[in-house]
Amino acid sequence: MAKFLVKKSGPMRGEVTISGSKNAVLPIMAATLLTDEECVIKDVPALRDVDVMCSLLESLGAGVRKNLDENRVTVKAEGEIISEAPFDLVKMMRASILVLGALLLRSGRALIHLPGGCAIGERPVELHLKGLKALGAEIDEQSLQKGIVDAKADRLHGATIYLDFPSVGATEVIIMAAALAEGTTVLENAAQEPEIVDLASFLNKMGAKIKGAGTGTIKIEGVEKLHGVSHHVIPDRIEAGTFMVSAAITGGKILIKNMLPDHLKAVIAKLRECGVEIDVTDRGVIVDGSRNPIVSTDIKTLPYPGFPTDMQSPFMALLTVAKGPSVVMETVFENRFMHVAEFNKMGANIRTEGKCAIIPGNRELKGAQVAATDLRAGAAVVLTGLVAEGTTEVSQIYHIDRGYEHFVDKLRGLGALIERVED
Ligand code: EPZ
Repeated sequence: MAKFLVKKSGPMRGEVTISGSKNAVLPIMAATLLTDEECVIKDVPALRDVDVMCSLLESLGAGVRKNLDENRVTVKAEGEIISEAPFDLVKMMRASILVLGALLLRSGRALIHLPGGCAIGERPVELHLKGLKALGAEIDEQSLQKGIVDAKADRLHGATIYLDFPSVGATEVIIMAAALAEGTTVLENAAQEPEIVDLASFLNKMGAKIKGAGTGTIKIEGVEKLHGVSHHVIPDRIEAGTFMVSAAITGGKILIKNMLPDHLKAVIAKLRECGVEIDVTDRGVIVDGSRNPIVSTDIKTLPYPGFPTDMQSPFMALLTVAKGPSVVMETVFENRFMHVAEFNKMGANIRTEGKCAIIPGNRELKGAQVAATDLRAGAAVVLTGLVAEGTTEVSQIYHIDRGYEHFVDKLRGLGALIERVED
């Protein structure tokens, strides 16, 4: 298995360009099933999850041309689309559930074996199903007991749906299904993430009539047909946040190109509280961790626009070396502290109490053998490896390959001493 070897590095210096957003491109790729015309998606990051989504669309009968050297994917879902998503692909990426709404509309049925929980939590889909049922889908309850979503619908109709939790995936699945339903759908307590806005702009370009994306109330007027489009995916805000922390934790100064600071207001505010200087310029965002000592702050993760759960572990990396104690509360996922044990192998001395992690800070970290326990936690232990004495060996880096395009090259471009080794 491949590993990363990360050595204590100097301050990050130079510039880095952010890739397209994984969590925007995956639902957009699912939405291409809603038309039989060609869709061209640009600024697609070359990631494992994108490969899996391409394979999933192909297995459903769509024509897919992947050209990730040019960060482009073309999909033409013409002809018959089959209704069953193959389990070997679904178990590789739980975001496969994102095809549920589009598949149901396109083929009248969607059969998806749920992969169940993962490192960060149970990942239920009852809100996705509540929405589809409200739109007129039938969900086979027996299959559901066996972890299989078997949804049928001849025609979907508009409805008013309230989400008990502003689930990103449920919001995306419901928007896609409602786009071609008969009548108007109002989605209350919807997720407001920028990736929802990008999906809605993609669908509206296709001819959908979606208003309010990015707010808690989204109104979708069903239309008869959607047509093919070309679309640039928004930059990945979590990749951008990860690189911002790389400058902060090493006391470096970098220029981040192709990021949208408005998508990271909570993270920027918190980094500034820690003493990081952040300037938004027309060339990009300058992140300077060299001017002031890094002091601690408390974090509470929340649905957007609150502090993003995906930045919890990368930010905790910074807090392990910040001056002073801090508390991190994870309110979005029920088990997203797997990285704490890995940080503690490096001497972070973090304690967890339920939803909270207590970080003493001021630590002199030591290189250790650690594992990437999820996508973002993997990036987080690389960040601590940049400042830990000696060498940190990061295993299970396939998690990182899922969500960070050219991660090693980009870090080395900033001066990081990191290399990928095959075991
Ligand atoms: C999306 O996951 C992202 N993935 C996640 O990013 C991100 O952490 C998450 O949103 C929150 O921002 C993609 O976009 C592909 P949710 P999703 O449904 O849609 C509970 C990464 O690192 N919930 O908003 O699965 C759920 O258990 C990944 O890129 C229900 O209870 O997130 C969780 O506790 C990790 N019932 C919370 O909501 C439901 O029916 C947030 O889940 C659905 C969700």
